Amino acid sequence: MADPSDDYEIAGELYSAEEIRLKVEELAKRINEDYADRAPLLLIGILKGAFIFLADLARLIEVPVQFDFMALSSYGSATKTSGVVRIRKDLDVEISGRHVLIVEDIIDTGLTLSYLQRNLFARGAASVEICALLNKRAANKVDVPIKYEGFSIPDDFVVGYGLDYAERYRNLPYIATLKK
Ligand code: PRP
Repeated sequence: MADPSDDYEIAGELYSAEEIRLKVEELAKRINEDYADRAPLLLIGILKGAFIFLADLARLIEVPVQFDFMALSSYGSATKTSGVVRIRKDLDVEISGRHVLIVEDIIDTGLTLSYLQRNLFARGAASVEICALLNKRAANKVDVPIKYEGFSIPDDFVVGYGLDYAERYRNLPYIATLKK
């Protein structure tokens, strides 16, 4: 079977493993300060891309914390007009009254996170904040309030540290750009 990722290769490193490590430390420090009096914090990882970022971030969180996961997929062009996404795996826990922090690898149009934040608020969460490692600000179509943002990146295709192209490259320890 033809693998579409065969047509692409790594163009260059955008952020090294060390740069990412320092950024994750910085974000965790802010989260520890902000949630000191709002524990237990519920971290919600968005599959699949956030799994590596969440694993690194989680090990630096010092306040009492619990975890859950969601998997979402967009309806393609329907998402672009309605902003509605399909929940492929929902939370296992009730979040009414909980302080929730969504952990995401990348914000592109912002439609997924904008929908999700509204959806979690509607379930009665006490607070719903967003922690995203990467934000393609130039591609944002809606204004998503990202409280904890790692890097603002150009509108290029990036892979590694959880991010894929055709399910490849998620395990790279750094973030790279792709070329044909
Ligand atoms: C990526 C990312 C976000 C979404 C952002 O997931 O993890 O969930 O796209 O896009 P948006 O801002 O345009 O809504 P993807 O659909 O690639 O799934 P994956 O995490 O399983 O790779």
